Amino acid sequence: MRSIADQTDDELGGPGSVLVRQRRDHVELDRLLHELERTTGTAQEEVLGRIDRLVFSHAFAEETVLWPVIRRVLPDGDALTLQVEEEHQEVNELVTALERDGLDSPERSARLRRLVEVLREDVRDEEDVLFPRLQVVLGPEELRALGRRWELMRRISPTRPHPTVSRRPPGNALSGLPLSLVDRTRDLVDAGVRRAPERIAPAGRALSQGLAGVAGLIERIPLFRSGDGPPTSR
Ligand SMILES: [Fe+2]
Repeated sequence: MRSIADQTDDELGGPGSVLVRQRRDHVELDRLLHELERTTGTAQEEVLGRIDRLVFSHAFAEETVLWPVIRRVLPDGDALTLQVEEEHQEVNELVTALERDGLDSPERSARLRRLVEVLREDVRDEEDVLFPRLQVVLGPEELRALGRRWELMRRISPTRPHPTVSRRPPGNALSGLPLSLVDRTRDLVDAGVRRAPERIAPAGRALSQGLAGVAGLIERIPLFRSGDGPPTSR
């Protein structure tokens, strides 16, 4: 079985195929991870924010749209997707801890190192194992249809870590839209704060913190925590 990293777009089902769309994001992630390793302080925070906005909606849409298909069509789909869900759970927890403890935390550099490591492992598991297996059972037409569904879900998925919600349906599918609205509003507020004069920036930062609190409450709604098992449930 050949890694999707070594195949042409045509072999992967053409430009709209879920495999081509996935690989495109993974290449962009690799570029951002190199940038993360080269930067420090607030510049590094800014790169981390861009990684968050790429990674969380990407993974959330995998968990709601792609992994259920893999569990349906592959006999060992459950074990295969559980491994990736555990990696996603660790990424959610690492980024939550990085944001909570700030730039001066003594654990920051170890957490960043681990984050880069897990994200790279996740890409390898998907490109070398999961997607080649999916490619055997789905034709190009189905890969393109799945690509459209994944892309649509990605655009309405959360852009920040939510370690408490379920990594599996129904909890993740139900929590996706409310969390996405809160996250994307926060993204706009934070972007405004970065450009705002210093006298109004504190109000923006307070609003952003308030929205983080709202997201925390949404995450804890029992229905949104239903669907996954002990390895990934918190
Ligand atoms: Fe992916």
